[in-house]
Amino acid sequence: MIISDQLRHYSESSHRSWVKTKAVFTKNSLLIKSYQVMQRWENNYMKSLAAIATSKGGNVLEVGFGLGISAGYIEQSKKIKTHIVIECHPDVIKQAKMKFKRQLATDRMILREGFWEDITPQISDKTFDGILFDSCPLESGVEFFQFFPFFTEAYRLLKDDGVFTYFSDEAKKISPAHLTKLKKAGFHNIKFKICKVRPPITCEYWKHNSIVAPIIKKL
Ligand SMILES: C[S@@+](CC[C@H](N)C(=O)[O-])C[C@H]1O[C@@H](n2cnc3c(N)ncnc32)[C@H](O)[C@@H]1O
Repeated sequence: MIISDQLRHYSESSHRSWVKTKAVFTKNSLLIKSYQVMQRWENNYMKSLAAIATSKGGNVLEVGFGLGISAGYIEQSKKIKTHIVIECHPDVIKQAKMKFKRQLATDRMILREGFWEDITPQISDKTFDGILFDSCPLESGVEFFQFFPFFTEAYRLLKDDGVFTYFSDEAKKISPAHLTKLKKAGFHNIKFKICKVRPPITCEYWKHNSIVAPIIKKL
């Protein structure tokens, strides 16, 4: 995978400090490096992303465990054969192992510990029927979105009739910036649905009452 020097530099230092910082789980949220990584109000949005990622059944890849909300919905799907989750943070990995102990004891759910940047290059082309990408920026004030570098990997890892979705960070539609990057990665069938959400006033990362759930296919 080709990543720019800027991204490589950002990755190496931020990866190191991310895994060293303790994760704080509260009843409704996950905080790492004292910023809001995930909150429970996203429940219905996660349900929609999981429904998209499992719509073809088969093998599903999920990047970012967080509170395990989308993982729970993916696991509920009767159609899927396998569910691989990639998560890098040691405290989050611990939670995943506790929360999904029974599921992880089977071959159906597999937890891969580490950064997707190190793990996905080990996975063969066209392995997955569905991919759900929901990582997060590992530093505040970064000038690019964490999901853009994954688009070419998503294309490579997806079967020809597979479907890719991701936390879009967009409220009403897929913007030209995302469309350009998705098309450059090779995706031509780009649709979305709108999910209504009600983030609490204390939520620092989302202020809108809707979020785009992308439905991205190759053809
Ligand atoms: C927003 S949360 C995921 C929320 C999840 N979808 C849920 O339903 O709870 C993002 C997660 O991605 C993980 N993460 C961030 N960057 C990553 C990377 N490069 N590789 C693997 N995991 C990453 C974080 O540690 C965090 O647990």
